[in-house]
Amino acid sequence: MESVTQQVQQLFDEWARAGRGSRMEKGHWPTSSQILNRLDLKPGQLFLDIGCGNGYCVAWAADRVAPGGKAIGLDLSPDMIAEAKTHHSKPSVEFIIGQAETLPFETATFDSIINIESLYYYRDIPQVLSEIHRALKPGGQFAAMVDFYKENPYSAVWQDLMPIPMTYLSETDYQKAFQAAGLVDVRTERLFNPEPVDISTFQPGWGYDTVEDVIRFRQTIGSLAIWGRKPVPEAPHKNTP
Ligand SMILES: C[S@@+](CC[C@H](N)C(=O)[O-])C[C@H]1O[C@@H](n2cnc3c(N)ncnc32)[C@H](O)[C@@H]1O
Repeated sequence: MESVTQQVQQLFDEWARAGRGSRMEKGHWPTSSQILNRLDLKPGQLFLDIGCGNGYCVAWAADRVAPGGKAIGLDLSPDMIAEAKTHHSKPSVEFIIGQAETLPFETATFDSIINIESLYYYRDIPQVLSEIHRALKPGGQFAAMVDFYKENPYSAVWQDLMPIPMTYLSETDYQKAFQAAGLVDVRTERLFNPEPVDISTFQPGWGYDTVEDVIRFRQTIGSLAIWGRKPVPEAPHKNTP
């Protein structure tokens, strides 16, 4: 029998072959770009995108961490990674097939890690957050973005539409999970999508029955961003003479 991980991989392989990697890029960019801009990436830094899909965020980050740095994209789906290599290869970029639950990186490697619309597909979110904490440098930052969360009422039907298990958490659940993994300065924000809805191509689906539903999501509910940082260990107190 197929494992859930195999089912998830096969689903996203199918999505990649159907061109949904670039459709997701288009749909996620208005909000994921707000996260990327706030990371304040600098030349020489190491950046990781877990569940990178077609790799668009990795390509964007690569231009900011060069020269001297590297942007890595990791995804479970070999077909997503193949698409990323085809469309977003450039110097300072690396794409790796791998699982969020067991990151193939040394402890304290990355300055910044992101995760866009991927956390809720993981069977064991605490394990993934613990791996992210391990892979971050002290002081390194992590940002996740999710549209599937309890305060977005439109997303309530998504689990019924998807053939793989998903985890439906609230904003507070995410905050607690980040804190439980040892991340500090945990905060959430809503990211709004300023793009107009194209009425001529609108089709109902994914809980959005009307154009007004999409506008309400984009302008008043928003994508949920959760931020955290790996703490810097305190320097030992020196005894004063
Ligand atoms: C909805 S797509 C989002 C892709 C991309 N981040 C974006 O913004 O378009 C979710 C991605 O997470 C990946 N994924 C799901 N479970 C994973 C896991 N356990 N480890 C690594 N990647 C995973 C999928 O293969 C898929 O490419």
